[in-house]
Amino acid sequence: MSATKIFVSRQIPAVGLERLRQHFEVDLWPENGPPSRQELLQRVVGCSGILSLLSDRIDEEVFACAGPQLRVVSNYAVGYNNIDIEAAAARGIRVGNTPDVLTDATADMAVCLLLAAARHLKPAIDNVRLGRWSTWEPLGFLGSELAGKTLGVIGGGRIGSAMAKRCHGGWGMRILYASRGSFSALGQTTWSSRVPLDQLLQESDFISIHCDLNEQTKHLINRQTLQMMKQGAILINTARGQIVDQDALCEALLYGPLGAAGLDVTDPEPLPPEHPLVGLDNCLILPHIGSATHQARDAMSRIAAENIIAAITGVAMPAEVARSGQHSSAPRA
Ligand code: GLV
Ligand code: GLV
Repeated sequence: MSATKIFVSRQIPAVGLERLRQHFEVDLWPENGPPSRQELLQRVVGCSGILSLLSDRIDEEVFACAGPQLRVVSNYAVGYNNIDIEAAAARGIRVGNTPDVLTDATADMAVCLLLAAARHLKPAIDNVRLGRWSTWEPLGFLGSELAGKTLGVIGGGRIGSAMAKRCHGGWGMRILYASRGSFSALGQTTWSSRVPLDQLLQESDFISIHCDLNEQTKHLINRQTLQMMKQGAILINTARGQIVDQDALCEALLYGPLGAAGLDVTDPEPLPPEHPLVGLDNCLILPHIGSATHQARDAMSRIAAENIIAAITGVAMPAEVARSGQHSSAPRA
């Protein structure tokens, strides 16, 4: 019998690759960039498992190309909007993700963006870098303090709660959250209030997005919802770019009401440098690095590998995504 083959669509931290190589024949995509669609479809042929990244679209076409021996897709990410969960379920293919281990890293990044946006770090850094720093300016770069403000968290899951905990504990912020699910990690706290989205938009000084991307949340932040925000409000997105309508965001940053935005995610990724948002002083954009810490990425690598090993061995996966989109081991908001 030929060896069980796993396709890994990008170089990931060694710990997971080593685990996989103990059990399987690993075909590792050798380049820094992602495989093209055609390359992906070719490489998955005959594989029993695919370790995918959020930049790989994994759908029925991929499953059909791979063949009936495909048992598992393990996404190297907590979000799995790049995977057609229904199509996987219809074929009995199990799907895994990497929750929990990147919660702190991503919440830290949301805080980082909030502070940076509130204190105009992007134009301030440019001021020094481009040789425009001429004097100490009593009226230059005046920003907003965080203490005592109201934070609105969209999506009360793990990362949203970790963000809320930092803002409540660190700056005594009032915490509002909006969540569609019946369970939410923030719902377990006494210091946060669940409110309708409209109220959250109207009352928050800072709004941080932490929900999944799905049909209900695509362009949840649009012209209409942006217009409900406070004058000078700051919007932070470390979830998925498509939750925000970027044309509407650009308008709201230029003409109000938004004061600033901090984005770790965009639509598309990478965002072309000529995109209008890139040139705005009040829009800070990062290249999707929320989980980019040594700790988180090593742990993601380990879980992604263990998900594949468990699925192929036929035992419980450390983090399996169920068909409904609900996480089997920890209910999501
Ligand atoms: C990153 O965005 C992830 O979903 O892990
Ligand atoms: C992701 O882990 C979330 O629940 O926010």
